[in-house]
Amino acid sequence: MNVLNRIKSPLASAEVKVYAAISGVVVLLMMVFGLVMRMTQGQMLPIEPGLFYQLMTAHGIGMVAIAGLGGSAVMWHFLGKYVNLRAGFAWANLAFFLAGVVLVLGGIFVGGFAAAWTFLYPLPANGMGMWGRHAAAAYMGGVLLVGVGMLLFYLEAARAIIQQYGSFAKSLGWHFLKSGQDAPPATVIASSVVTIINILAILVGAVILSMMLINLYVPEIAIHPLLAKNLIFLFGHVFINSTIYMAVIAVYEILPQYTGRTWKVYKPFVWAWSATCLMVLTVYPHHLLMDFAQPLWMHIMGQIISYTSSLPVLALTLTATLGMIYRSNIKWDLTSALLVLSIFGWSAGVIPAVIDGTIAVNQVMHNTLWVPGHFHLYLLLGCMAMILAFINWLSNQEKAQGFSALDKAMLWTFAISAFTYALIFLMSGQASVPRRMAVHLPQWVWYSQAASLFAAGVVLSSMVIVVRALAGIIKPVKPA
Ligand code: HEM
Repeated sequence: MNVLNRIKSPLASAEVKVYAAISGVVVLLMMVFGLVMRMTQGQMLPIEPGLFYQLMTAHGIGMVAIAGLGGSAVMWHFLGKYVNLRAGFAWANLAFFLAGVVLVLGGIFVGGFAAAWTFLYPLPANGMGMWGRHAAAAYMGGVLLVGVGMLLFYLEAARAIIQQYGSFAKSLGWHFLKSGQDAPPATVIASSVVTIINILAILVGAVILSMMLINLYVPEIAIHPLLAKNLIFLFGHVFINSTIYMAVIAVYEILPQYTGRTWKVYKPFVWAWSATCLMVLTVYPHHLLMDFAQPLWMHIMGQIISYTSSLPVLALTLTATLGMIYRSNIKWDLTSALLVLSIFGWSAGVIPAVIDGTIAVNQVMHNTLWVPGHFHLYLLLGCMAMILAFINWLSNQEKAQGFSALDKAMLWTFAISAFTYALIFLMSGQASVPRRMAVHLPQWVWYSQAASLFAAGVVLSSMVIVVRALAGIIKPVKPA
């Protein structure tokens, strides 16, 4: 079979709809947690610091996990058009996910765990009266369960890709680099990269989580703190990066349906994704540039790879998106506008990351709100915009729709609010406001107050988009 031929072209399966619906609802809830945190920093809400750190932990891990689930919905839906995926694995992933979420929420809101989503060793074992070891165990056990579910999901993707294409070398398009023939679709290339890197990252995450769980109950079995930090950041950074690499498949698959052009795979595209496959695994040391005990070569690698890691795929996706739109008579609606916006958000969000990845800058900026500024820009305006576009596309039975006045109002409210919200994080970072602080000095409070206004705009616009989309997703499809 010619690999370019789709093996099936169904409308969204039940598991994709459930993933999309859960992602929409949880994103809204986590956004409300974020708004509450920013209002607390702006002294607009009387939330105790203990509760603030619980909300911060829940918001961080919740957003990372749900971006993973939303991205998985996009990947499963479109990859399933080229390879034979077995639905049972998607359901199993969901079951592990939900069981993990119950444990994580119990650890946080019943047990009081509040050590931030990065659970950095040895903090989880040192609650100092705020939480006990069972709470820490529930949190880390929950994250482990979510990871196990995701591992099943990626192992099934790996099996299906290899069954259809013969090997990862083929599904990554390496034969095409030599022969110029038979390039795999962009979706298969992106899915292969995410599958490879996330299987590795989740295994690393499972190792460190298991080690930390043992250490909680048998403290004599201690872990080297720097090794623990390296393993945690390898896992966390690759996992969160992968969310956008899965969600971008929505751009590759949906945008062509608005422009009438195909997303053609060229050799640089294949090179770029293969390079990303390696670089994304080695870029995380830019989170450890302040760790003096880290070997110097890793610091240098962290800086160099920070400059190059996301650029190849991003640059090609950006230029291809612009080329796809230019003089194409693209049909604008909420889905296509969100997809184009997402490429802007992703591109803009990489710039502060590259600045922070520079060792000299990192020394003064890394523990400030500059870093949340970077990742909120690319995750909110990039990854979330892609996921919202996908949910909206599903709800419209995978067809272009009209662009109503309400759609336009919500799109602009989302775009302006999300951009300004992230910009205020960056400005706060530039003014040396530290990150992860429940209470801010009086001279910083106005940043949080202004940010709260724009966060409310993000929550409101996302709510309208998600609630309307949910109605479309839940509605039964009329027979043709
Ligand atoms: C309305 C939208 C959002 C609001 C109001 C919001 C608000 C916040 C606030 C106030 C913080 C704490 C910053 C600090 O002082 O260190 C935070 C951290 C964070 N946010 Fe958001 N956020 C939003 C959307 C998102 C999205 C879409 C994602 C990811 C997909 C995300 C992921 C995170 C992560 C990973 C952290 C770090 C938590 C930690 O330090 O442990 N946020 N957010």
